[in-house]
Amino acid sequence: MAATCPIDFDVASLRESVRAVYTRVAADPSGDFHFHRGLDYAVAALGYDPAELAALPRLATERFAGVGNPLAMGALAVGETVLDHACGAGMDLLLAARRVGNAGRAIGVDMTEAMREQAMRAATLAGVADRTRIVPGLLEELPLDDASVDVVISNGVLNLSPDKRQALREIFRVLRPGGRLLLADVVVKRELTLPVRQSPELWAACIGGALPEPELLDLVRAAGLCDGRIEARFKSFAGSSAEAKVSVDLELSAVNFSARKPQI
Ligand SMILES: C[S@@+](CC[C@H](N)C(=O)[O-])C[C@H]1O[C@@H](n2cnc3c(N)ncnc32)[C@H](O)[C@@H]1O
Repeated sequence: MAATCPIDFDVASLRESVRAVYTRVAADPSGDFHFHRGLDYAVAALGYDPAELAALPRLATERFAGVGNPLAMGALAVGETVLDHACGAGMDLLLAARRVGNAGRAIGVDMTEAMREQAMRAATLAGVADRTRIVPGLLEELPLDDASVDVVISNGVLNLSPDKRQALREIFRVLRPGGRLLLADVVVKRELTLPVRQSPELWAACIGGALPEPELLDLVRAAGLCDGRIEARFKSFAGSSAEAKVSVDLELSAVNFSARKPQI
């Protein structure tokens, strides 16, 4: 079970490694990383609409580091409150803010200050700062009230959590009854070897903490969410240096996955 990080991992230093990587992405997304980034990747590998992305500030699209396309899984209604669960520089957050209109709310939570600063700048440039709130926080302790969110979107971040059960419990808590989870994350064909799971570098590259697909579905169900369904698959690491570091038969890929909080 890879729901938690290996027991000899120090969670605080793991978080610091993850924060250091995404601080570097925030400062210079064209640097050398194990994972793909940016608008061209989002369009070619993940099916984002090029015109919609071209209309967003480049500082958000250049720093995009997701692995799937959560907003492709369902329309957002005008007036809804959406949480972008570890929003990074905010590409999905801005798309959500546009879709919910000025009666809605788009809330981004992220633990990396440099990413939050870019996301806030991007929201202002995109003209959606009025309905966007970006707050510091951890996936495992979301700084939001119970039942305060209609939709949680999450792109490439659950794998980074050292305690995925707790992160999913938090999603369940903040969703209102009937609320939706639209999650994209990395999956592997079988559990990763301990050396891969123990590498802070591969963990921060969204690989070391990836779950086998059935385990992801089981954890979502165990958190109380229902109607879990894989909606699409992506070869998000094709051609990346991360792919070269894990064995081919692990079939490193990503899924779009939806679920919902029961009404009662
Ligand atoms: C792979 S990037 C994805 C960001 C964004 N969803 C996107 O699609 O571009 C990972 C982001 O998750 C944040 N993050 C990682 N672990 C976190 C945690 N435990 N709590 C809060 N944020 C976290 C990082 O700071 C980083 O901005």
